[in-house]
Amino acid sequence: MQANALRYMSGFGGHFETEAVEGALPKGRNSPQKPAFGLYAEQLSGSAFTAPRHENRRSWLYRMRPTADHRPFTRYDGAPLFAPGTVKEPLAPNRLRWNPPADLPADTDFVDGMVTMLANRDPSDLEGVAVHLYRASKSMSRRVFVDADGELLIIPQQGVLHLLTEFGRLEVAPGSVALVPRGVKFRVEVDGESRGYVAENHGLPFRLPDLGPIGSNGLANARDFEIPVAWFDDRDEPTEVIQKSLGSLWTTTLDHSPLDVVAWHGNYAPWRYDLAHFNTIGTVSFDHPDPSIFTVLTSPSNVHGRANADFVIFPPRWMVAEDTFRPPWFHRNAMSEAMGLIHGAYDAKADGFSPGGLSLHNLMSGHGPDVESWHKASEAELTPAKIDNTLAFMVETCWPYRPTQFALDRAQHDYDEAWAGFPKAKLP
Ligand SMILES: [Fe+2]
Repeated sequence: MQANALRYMSGFGGHFETEAVEGALPKGRNSPQKPAFGLYAEQLSGSAFTAPRHENRRSWLYRMRPTADHRPFTRYDGAPLFAPGTVKEPLAPNRLRWNPPADLPADTDFVDGMVTMLANRDPSDLEGVAVHLYRASKSMSRRVFVDADGELLIIPQQGVLHLLTEFGRLEVAPGSVALVPRGVKFRVEVDGESRGYVAENHGLPFRLPDLGPIGSNGLANARDFEIPVAWFDDRDEPTEVIQKSLGSLWTTTLDHSPLDVVAWHGNYAPWRYDLAHFNTIGTVSFDHPDPSIFTVLTSPSNVHGRANADFVIFPPRWMVAEDTFRPPWFHRNAMSEAMGLIHGAYDAKADGFSPGGLSLHNLMSGHGPDVESWHKASEAELTPAKIDNTLAFMVETCWPYRPTQFALDRAQHDYDEAWAGFPKAKLP
């Protein structure tokens, strides 16, 4: 029967099978004429049927009622800051940074507490990414959320989230991330005030990056991704389904919980990953590699080597490079970078970038260390040193972001000052 403790399987990209009730999972076929116990067989595809085998993602779900059984959706207006659209007027090429907003929705659950900060592309393009903040102090009760516009990479910054999904349960704490695939229903329970970030990926599903000459180990290893075992919610009571579709929110009410999948098999499933398991790789001589070396997950675009979205982290690590400016160099980039901070301090900024805050360095905007960090790093004695007690992340994308009006209204007014007052170089 239903497991009392949370249980997981490990791996990413493998094929999993799990049943919460013995005998629920058909053997040898996906859609038998009469599945056990009168369950309904339903295929959930996360890729085209004909996608190459290594990119093909689908799972078979054996559930108490088919998803098809629902009444029409109507507009949902309970989360006005979630996907309201981005600003339409011309956007100055300014770097933007935010303190953790003090006025995120209060006394709400995970869905109503979602606030979109940045987005690009229309979800119906099947490309692009949005960056949301969430604040939740109430558990979702008798309601579930499902995103048809993309997969959700959930990045807690404060408080543990309990994700109850069609595929099973996941507990995710700050320092770990969880992914809910496109189209998967879930609800979120919280223990108290909880905050964090969500990257909503409209494009190809996140996957582990190729490793090239790094070899077969390193960065995020497949075995460290945890997939939930089957669990179900046998509840015949009204349950609201809130669905994000084509950029808008919609609602309908079922007479039962749709988290009623008793068994499933396949390779399209939620997972969680403890970022402490990321095997950070860097230089052992001089200079440092491009920040792509910190890529945890990538969503490719149609242009080879150019990511629709990369999820990148800057975890604790040793710095040993000789004759090297060790923080990130000054740079301008063909990609657009949204950065968040889970805890600690980021090594390229002395202040102004707090846990729960956000920054945006869009396409070709000049950025890098602030004056204080530059002075310090230029004059530091280059002994081996550990950057510790820090966890920053970046959602980098080839599509320039646009902020929402909420975000634009709350950007720090003095961010450019971070780069004011650099001394002029002295030529001989
Ligand atoms: Fe950058």
